[in-house]
Amino acid sequence: DRLRIIGAPMDYGANRRGVDMGPSAIRYAGLSDELEAAGVATDDVGDLQISRAEELDPDDDTAGVENAKFLPAIEDVSTRLADRVAQTLADGEFPLVVGGDHSISIGSITGSARDADLGAIWFDAHADLNTPATSPSGNVHGMPLGAVLGRGVFGDLEWAHAPQLREESIAYVGLRSIDERERELVQDSEMTAFTMSDIDERGMTTVVEDALEVATDGTDGVHVSLDLDWIDPKEAPGVGTPVRGGVTYREAHMALETLSKHHDRNGILRSMDVVEVNPILDEANETATLATELTASVFGKRIL
Ligand code: ARG
Ligand code: MN
Ligand code: MN
Ligand code: MN
Repeated sequence: DRLRIIGAPMDYGANRRGVDMGPSAIRYAGLSDELEAAGVATDDVGDLQISRAEELDPDDDTAGVENAKFLPAIEDVSTRLADRVAQTLADGEFPLVVGGDHSISIGSITGSARDADLGAIWFDAHADLNTPATSPSGNVHGMPLGAVLGRGVFGDLEWAHAPQLREESIAYVGLRSIDERERELVQDSEMTAFTMSDIDERGMTTVVEDALEVATDGTDGVHVSLDLDWIDPKEAPGVGTPVRGGVTYREAHMALETLSKHHDRNGILRSMDVVEVNPILDEANETATLATELTASVFGKRIL
């Protein structure tokens, strides 16, 4: 199976500029080479065309929605990205979407769920379950799950009026920063939330195995969303919304190698995105390098 790298240099959803350079930084860190070295044939199809934020008005409300910055532009990118991802799957390749801020997951998930019942594992410090009605920031990177679950008013597009996947098929891993209003949303949802405390108590491998159970049960495949702020900022400083007390370097590798083992056996993974790498805030590209290593781990990179 070939893997297709799709760059999505979108930073409209984040409060800090610089994630638009994530795809370049991750490519520069050697993503294709690492994947090829792991034995995965890779096509890099370049980046989606995305206007610079400076050309746009963050408060453009042509979508008719308040408290969601750059929403019309995000809708446009999401629609194009969803088509790209769906086409990649139709061509028999694995879509790896490289961001960009976490709002790109709206497009990746919508495309991946188009012809399948999709499960998802969300590796993140944050729950990203806000909607324009609950968001404290108006930043859409805090809302992608709210959007694809059809929970809020986001406009009138494919992903905005119907849930793209079932809440029961989604597992969070590594949560540690949830907004006040978001806490109830998570608790009242059918999603499974494994927090940092669960990882401390039960160990990463067990937690990821449980997350896989959730995401594979009754689904055709799993979407993996990897937000680099999942990892402790000491090891991944190049992110816009760092939160102390994150996953260690070893735990991160263990988690993604666990996915890899299951994928090897059963081909459970269907699509993936890697998000929130911000080279401006990074130290010598180490966050992009880590993103690259972890992605290669998913697709079979091993020490021996
Ligand atoms: N919960 C906060 C918000 O809604 C932060 C979200 C951070 N999300 C992310 N993908 N880094 O603004
Ligand atoms: Mn996120
Ligand atoms: Mn579907
Ligand atoms: Mn996050």
